Amino acid sequence: MRVFIAGATGVLGRRLVALFRARGDSVVGLVRSTAGERAVAALGGEPCRADLFDAEALARGAGKCDVVIHAATSIPVRTRPGARDWEMNDRIRRQGTEALTACAAKIGARLHVQQSVIRVARPSDGAFFDEDSPARPDPLSRSAWDGEIIAREAGRRHGFDVAVLRCGWFYGPDAAHTRLFAEAIGRRRLPVIGKGDAVWSCLHVDDAASAFVTAAAANRSGLWHVVDDCPVSAGEFIRYFAKRLGAPAPFHVPVWLARLAAGSYAVDFFTASVRTSNARFRGEFGWTPRFPTYRDGIDHVVASRAV
Ligand SMILES: NC(=O)c1ccc[n+]([C@@H]2O[C@H](COP(=O)([O-])OP(=O)(O)OC[C@H]3O[C@@H](n4cnc5c(N)ncnc54)[C@H](OP(=O)(O)O)[C@@H]3O)[C@@H](O)[C@H]2O)c1
Repeated sequence: MRVFIAGATGVLGRRLVALFRARGDSVVGLVRSTAGERAVAALGGEPCRADLFDAEALARGAGKCDVVIHAATSIPVRTRPGARDWEMNDRIRRQGTEALTACAAKIGARLHVQQSVIRVARPSDGAFFDEDSPARPDPLSRSAWDGEIIAREAGRRHGFDVAVLRCGWFYGPDAAHTRLFAEAIGRRRLPVIGKGDAVWSCLHVDDAASAFVTAAAANRSGLWHVVDDCPVSAGEFIRYFAKRLGAPAPFHVPVWLARLAAGSYAVDFFTASVRTSNARFRGEFGWTPRFPTYRDGIDHVVASRAV
């Protein structure tokens, strides 16, 4: 198999390049810098320097790839992101998907794998949801939902399969948000907001990568939620992370105070439940996460000494 990866230099993309190469697949990785070229080449991939929003350039770089993967992102890492910080991410999800699917059509790829987020279908009452639940995009996930629609329509129009993987909240030793968490916990600057009882469905980045490789190796269209086996409350995740880092137990702050200090995006992230399951992906592909619980994953993050 020959795979074209947008976002090949990212936390997910680097793992994808390495996993595909380990299987004996060839990989073309989209990059936008000399450092990116070096990173992809060091993992055994062929770097392709092109603009994500230029379908012609993507198709020239991708050549004869069978599979196109959209794993590019620009999710803000700032502690208090505003609406403008999300603009490039929205563009990558919408125009990036348009260009990548146009590229897939031009090169005759058999499959496009679209990254998305489980938040797209999160019910506002925090109830459990799955792939059959209606989409309820909010301002932060609307562009991910639009990306799903753009990808599916392009697949229907041009006759290639589209696999949409909605991933849970990423964490891992080299994930920017995990490092931010670890640093803030160490400085006692990451409190539990409110009761801390919002439930998160998380995913170690290694497991995200193995799920993308699984989907790429199959010849199927579909929508799957990719999360670990054990949803966890925000409070428990933060308390366990602090304990494993040897940091003091996090304190609690009321929601109103957190909103003043950190803004509504952060408060929403820490207080809204996003509760789903990997049952469909696991059932249809036999995939299992290497880190089935947040405890396994956090132990790995801490043991890696990257945080
Ligand atoms: N974080 C989460 O909780 C979460 C959850 C579910 C799904 N996801 C999705 O998983 C994917 C990978 O996330 P990640 O943590 O691996 O992100 P990451 O480490 O920040 O990597 C981002 C990748 O996108 C590339 N990129 C950024 N802006 C670009 C642009 N304008 N043009 C072309 N490429 C650009 C980066 O290239 P450079 O190296 O050149 O910057 C890098 O390769 C994302 O699509 C994200 O939406 C994330």
